[in-house]
Amino acid sequence: MNETTGTPVIYEGESDSNLSPNRRNWQASQTDPEIQRLLDDDEKYYLRQSVSTPCLSAIKKAEGLWIEDMSGNRFMDFHGNSVHHIGYGHPRLIAAIKDQLDDLSFSPRRFTCDPAVDLARKLAEITPGDLGKTLLATGGSDAIEMALKLARINTGRHKTVSFWDSFHGAGFGGTSIGGEALFRSDRVGPLLPGTEHVPPFSCYRCPYGHEDRDGQPNYELCGLACANMVKYVLEKEGDVAAVIAEPVRALPYIPPPGFWKSVRDACNAHGALLIFDEIPNGLGRTGRMFSCEHFDVVPDILVAGKSLGGGILPIAAMIAHPDLDVAHELAIGHYTHEKNPVTCRAALTTIQIIEDEGLVENAAIVGAYALERLHAMKDRHTIIGDVRGLGMIMGLDLVKGADTREPNSAAADRVLYRCLENGLSFKTSMGNVLTLYPPLITTKNDIDHAFDIIEAAIAEES
Ligand SMILES: Cc1ncc(COP(=O)(O)O)c(C=O)c1O
Repeated sequence: MNETTGTPVIYEGESDSNLSPNRRNWQASQTDPEIQRLLDDDEKYYLRQSVSTPCLSAIKKAEGLWIEDMSGNRFMDFHGNSVHHIGYGHPRLIAAIKDQLDDLSFSPRRFTCDPAVDLARKLAEITPGDLGKTLLATGGSDAIEMALKLARINTGRHKTVSFWDSFHGAGFGGTSIGGEALFRSDRVGPLLPGTEHVPPFSCYRCPYGHEDRDGQPNYELCGLACANMVKYVLEKEGDVAAVIAEPVRALPYIPPPGFWKSVRDACNAHGALLIFDEIPNGLGRTGRMFSCEHFDVVPDILVAGKSLGGGILPIAAMIAHPDLDVAHELAIGHYTHEKNPVTCRAALTTIQIIEDEGLVENAAIVGAYALERLHAMKDRHTIIGDVRGLGMIMGLDLVKGADTREPNSAAADRVLYRCLENGLSFKTSMGNVLTLYPPLITTKNDIDHAFDIIEAAIAEES
C-alpha cells in the first residue's frame, strides 16, 4: 500500500495486476450470478495475490484456442499461461491420457516404466547438441531448482548471473535468480547468496543508453554492451557456476545478433555453465523446436515445461549434457511424480502432436504473417512505439510519445479490458507491453480476427 495515497502498489512485472482500477470495473461488470458466486468463493478460500486471485472470471470450457466463461462468453486465448501450444483439450492427447490411466497409472520411485523411458529418449532426440540426460518435475519452478543444483555440483561454485526483470519460477532459487520486484520483495526475506543480476538485452529501451532514433538498433555503435556486461561480471566474479536466462525474453525481446554466441564463449572462458530456461518458449513456440536454435547456441542445461504437459497435466524437464551426470551418490530432484506414467505419456504425446501436425512450421509461418500485420498496425497508430516478435510470441510496446518512448501502462490496461470485452484474452508485461502468446494451432484467419479486436481497442486511444 502506498502510505501517502492509500492506493495499492502495483508492481509491473511479467503479468498485469488485479489491483488496477480497470480490473475493478471489469469485475463489477461480471453480473452473472454463477460467475459472481465462484469469484466470491474463490476469493474467500484462496489467498489473494496480485496476478491471480481475485480472478478475472470463471470458465467452464477450454477448447482449441478458445476459453468460455460460465455465461457462455467466448475468448480467444492469446495468453494460455504458455501451456496451450497444441490447443486446449486436444482429443488425441485426452485419448492417450485415458489409455494410460487404464494401463499404468503410477510408478513409484525406484521403478521405471515405458512412458518415462520413451519420454526421456524423445527429449534427447529433440533437444539441440548432445543434451540427453533428463530429470523430471511437476513444474518449471522445480525444474529450475534442479538445474541450479546440478550447476553447483558440477562446478563446485554457487554464484549465478541472470537478468533483471526475468522470471524463472516462484521457489527461492527461481525468485533469487529472477529479477522482478513482485517476487523479490524484502517481505519474503533473504534470497540465495551470489545471485548476480545484469541488465538484459532490450534494444528498444537499451539499459546502456544505446537505443537509436530511427527504429533500428545500431549494433556497431553499441558494441553489444549487454553481452559485454555478462562477460565482465563473469570475469570479475571469477567463480560463477552458471549464466541462466531465457534465450528470447518473455516481454518479448529478441536478442541482438551475436548475443548468445558471445555469452556462450564467455561462459566457456570462465568455467560457467549456460542454462537456458525454455519453459514458456520451447517446444516450437518461436518457430524452432527450441528458441536457442535460432541463435545456434547449445546450452549445458535446458529446462522445458508448461506446454510439455499439453495444457492438461503438469510436467517439466531438465535436460543436461551427459558430462554433467556426476552426482550419482546425491539426490538432485527426487520428486514424487518424477516418473509418473500419465504425465510422461501426456508429454510424449504432446511432442508427437507438435511434430505430426507441423506446429513448429505453423508457428513460424503464421508468426511471420502476424508480425507483418503488427508492423502495419504500428504505422497507423503512434501509441505503438515498438513491435517485437518471433514465431508465436509477439509484443506491442505502448508509449506516450514516439520520441520519449515513455511506457503507456494506463493505455495498455484499458486496451486489455476492451479486448476482453470483445472476446480476446492476453496479458500485459511491464505494464505497457501487450504480450500475445497464441497457441501454435492458430491460423492466419484467427490472427486477423484477434488483431481486428486489438486495433479497434488501440484506435480508441489514438
Ligand atoms: C520463464 C519461466 N521460467 C519458469 C517458470 C516457472 O514455471 P512453473 O510456473 O511451471 O513453475 C515460468 C512460469 O511462468 C516462466 O515463464
